[in-house]
Amino acid sequence: MIRTIKELRCWSRQQHHAQKRIGLVPTMGALHEGHLSLVKTANQYCEATLVSIFVNPAQFGVNEDFYQYPRPLENDLRLLQTVGSPEVFVPDVAEMYPAGFDALVHIGGVTQPFEGAFRPTHFDGVTTVVLKLFLASETDAAFFGQKDFQQVCVIRKMVTDLNIPVEIVVCPTVREPDGLAMSSRNRYLTESQRAQAVVLSQSLTLAEKMIIDEKIFNTETIRQKIRQKIRQKIRSKIETASDMKIDYIAIANPKTLDELTTIDSDAVILVAARIGTTRLIDNVLLSIADHR
Ligand code: PAJ
Repeated sequence: MIRTIKELRCWSRQQHHAQKRIGLVPTMGALHEGHLSLVKTANQYCEATLVSIFVNPAQFGVNEDFYQYPRPLENDLRLLQTVGSPEVFVPDVAEMYPAGFDALVHIGGVTQPFEGAFRPTHFDGVTTVVLKLFLASETDAAFFGQKDFQQVCVIRKMVTDLNIPVEIVVCPTVREPDGLAMSSRNRYLTESQRAQAVVLSQSLTLAEKMIIDEKIFNTETIRQKIRQKIRQKIRSKIETASDMKIDYIAIANPKTLDELTTIDSDAVILVAARIGTTRLIDNVLLSIADHR
């Protein structure tokens, strides 16, 4: 286990010296099958896999769950042994943000809607820590989950705009058997909340089915009507769970995240809702070409 950036650089140089490509999986720990799937993919792509575990204070808002966020390090390390024992980087806060730290990586545009509107400082915290991790590890590739769809858009934009020589690989969302997207925050849910949370993924499955079944791409008016119908369908499904409070339902261009007024090209449907004090997000990517 590596604790300091100095040691990390030393490890990375050794890997590159041995002609090994490095694959970085950035995480905040409390690992589950979703994280492990990223590690497995990294193992296939690269000869040396590095997992970072760092609960990044910079990406939590003042009233968010930074202090409650689970930190089961021993268990995380055990889980990582089941997926090839990658190298693990576990810095403390002072290592990543020493006294006097005063930098911020801000990406415009794609950071603004959806999560950005509800968590205004969140993505600056994410891009700042991810860029630091890229630079400290000198990684060749980095692996992210589609579960955090907007995060992927933001990281891709950062990599493009700043010419960062890191390949970004996106892995599918891993779900519980009933469809709920796995998340470290699911462990906050009470039994009743956990039962209700499933409506989020169910609402997306319904929307996807509606789009495929109704062959909605014929005329402009039909497209517009259906778009409203889809949002309504998602809303009413989520509202069947009495404790779920919707933050947003959005249908957007998957690259720019601009909201779509008609669905006639690839689209992503993004939803976010709160249940009690827990905030859950999910999304589905629609490849319209597959359904025409
Ligand atoms: P964290 O929430 O720990 O997630 C780490 C990575 O695992 C992210 O790329 C996330 O999209 C992915 N992931 C989470 N749940 C998943 C699931 N059910 N299926 C597939 N992948 C999943 O995202 C972060 O941490 C942080 O913002 C981070 C990028 C580490 C920066 O601090």
